[in-house]
Amino acid sequence: MTKPSPESLKRAEELRSALDEHNYRYYVLDDPGVPDAEYDRLFRELQKLEADHPELASDDSPTRRVGSKAETSFEEVVHRLPMLSLDNAFSEDELRDFDRRVRERLGSDNDVEYVCEPKLDGLAVSLHYEQGSLIRAATRGDGYAGEDITANIRTIPSVPLRLRGNSVPELVEVRGEVYMPKVGFEALNSRLENQGEKAFVNPRNAAAGSLRQKKSTVTAKRPLEMCAYSVAVTDESQLPDTQWACLQQVQRWGFRINPEMRKAQGASECLLAYEELMQKRDALPYGIDGIVFKVNRLDYQKALGFVSRAPRWAIAQKFPAQEELTVIEDVEFQVGRTGAVTPVARLKPVFVGGVTVSNATLHNMDEIRRLDVRIGDTVFVRRAGDVIPKVVKVVTEKRPANAKVVELPKQCPVCDSDVVQIEGEAVARCSGGLFCPAQRKEAIRHYASRKALDIEGLGDKWIDILVDQGMVKTVADIYLLTARNLTRLDRMGEKSASNLVAAIDRSREPVLWRFLYALGIREVGEATAKSLASHFGSLEEVAKADEESLIAVQDVGPIVAGHIRSFFEQPHNRETLDALRDAGVKWQEEVITAGAKPLHGQTWVLTGTLSELTRDEAREKLEALGAKVAGSVSKKTACVVAGEAAGSKLAKAEQLGVEILNEQGLLEMLKEHELL
Ligand code: IVH
Repeated sequence: MTKPSPESLKRAEELRSALDEHNYRYYVLDDPGVPDAEYDRLFRELQKLEADHPELASDDSPTRRVGSKAETSFEEVVHRLPMLSLDNAFSEDELRDFDRRVRERLGSDNDVEYVCEPKLDGLAVSLHYEQGSLIRAATRGDGYAGEDITANIRTIPSVPLRLRGNSVPELVEVRGEVYMPKVGFEALNSRLENQGEKAFVNPRNAAAGSLRQKKSTVTAKRPLEMCAYSVAVTDESQLPDTQWACLQQVQRWGFRINPEMRKAQGASECLLAYEELMQKRDALPYGIDGIVFKVNRLDYQKALGFVSRAPRWAIAQKFPAQEELTVIEDVEFQVGRTGAVTPVARLKPVFVGGVTVSNATLHNMDEIRRLDVRIGDTVFVRRAGDVIPKVVKVVTEKRPANAKVVELPKQCPVCDSDVVQIEGEAVARCSGGLFCPAQRKEAIRHYASRKALDIEGLGDKWIDILVDQGMVKTVADIYLLTARNLTRLDRMGEKSASNLVAAIDRSREPVLWRFLYALGIREVGEATAKSLASHFGSLEEVAKADEESLIAVQDVGPIVAGHIRSFFEQPHNRETLDALRDAGVKWQEEVITAGAKPLHGQTWVLTGTLSELTRDEAREKLEALGAKVAGSVSKKTACVVAGEAAGSKLAKAEQLGVEILNEQGLLEMLKEHELL
């Protein structure tokens, strides 16, 4: 045995005190100092150090116990059976090693049957029932003694206060996880923020904080749930002989058990279960941080027994962490299409939620103040599912002396115009309007996007280049581009240039509502643009309309009316519209004024496949004639257009005696109205 070096002695001590500290914050204060993934790494480093140098090991090492001491504000409860923890497998190999050890110990050559259970991200609780009544509930605490939380647990609807059925043993202890579903967590956080209180970092913390409330009336308002995962009784002959059957029994007593649970034969099926559950992870209504594999047969579990910290018959395989620590290297401000000036944190790149993240949104100055984020701070970054990465918490202990307070720039970082913040609004804006290239780029992007004028080939990359080179300043300049001057740009071939010019040409005669939408007036989406077009019939009328007549339009309230007014009042917007007209853009005025349209007040339904038109085109043309196009047939439907292979909607129309038109009939009608 080699003598441990002074370095490794020192490191072991460092790791132990760091882990002790993290344990204390995590288990006692519900205020973790590091994300779980970081804790796991420190823990494993210490485990490895102690394994390499057994003489370094000590009885008070965090690797020899489960958590830390219970907080004293709730009565202490000593667990009759310790609440132990689980070992983790971090790779396929580690899981296969675990399975091999199980088989070796059992002396079995056959596949062992496992129960695969989601590892819920909440807190372990132990519930004692006597004669079927809940008499005490406790947290895990340090695994040997926890806190009495009976009053709070009783408020959770999924915890039975009395067990159901008549096969209830004298004494039962059910263990499981208390957690907060994702939706409830979001709702709770916005409620807390509205009340000016501190939001929780993640659902696990919210669940812990809620269980630790001094008043159970507060807990009762928190959306907590409990799911059972194990059971112990004094007389074991009263229990079935597998984990699976025990959970079915527990369910009959009235507990929620996890619906994603399944059985697996051997390590390979366990690994499949891991993959499948990971695929489902984001879609589940609650957070899970891995999967737990448990030997199904209880006699096998007994034979395998425990080591100091965890059972030999179970292991947890963790999923990629959704929270990590990193450093804020800078905070920059981005300017959006509407001029909103948004702070973005530039992060030291970190692998979280399955991708490398180097930026995270900070939303606005209120959020920066709420989190108290400074440049140089170490922060928790969270990325769950496809959601944009978020900074959720600052580790203030790690703040360097030279950390810099973030200030809203007075000038727009792109065009140097003043940044203004209206009282009571969280968002700050650049006052430069279309003078600001950032807003210009965004305005052009929006104008060319698929739902607006759909100019194929005019994507972000080319817009950046065209604006940066000064070839396009406003959307009107798009129409002045020629294949010749486009090919002068790097990497723009002749073919792409002529395709782009052709795509631009195709956008020269938009229908009015699309054109209105494409202008990018704040809060004028497709539906509002359609309402405006059919109400006013022409762009001039919309531009002239005062606030009162705008409010008369469906979907338009005073705020939107204000945005429309200020859009048309800005000289540069009027100039752009003139320039568009001069460049040959002809938005089709709605020839027919509202009310007098031939299909006004009628509801039409499209079904089956059309060959000459796409569904969207058919819908647009019917709407241009004043019809509303709906998805289902009723007595009130005026007409159903039935294309090839029309099914149930056609049958329903026949049954209700609704008028039916085939594609040919539709095309003829559209021709009559000069829409083809
Ligand atoms: S079994 C002796 N099953 O994970 C076995 N634990 O690291 C003890 N957990 O404290 C636990 N889901 O809070 C088990 N289906 C599950 C679980 C689960 C979540 C948590 C529990 C426990 C921790 C172990």
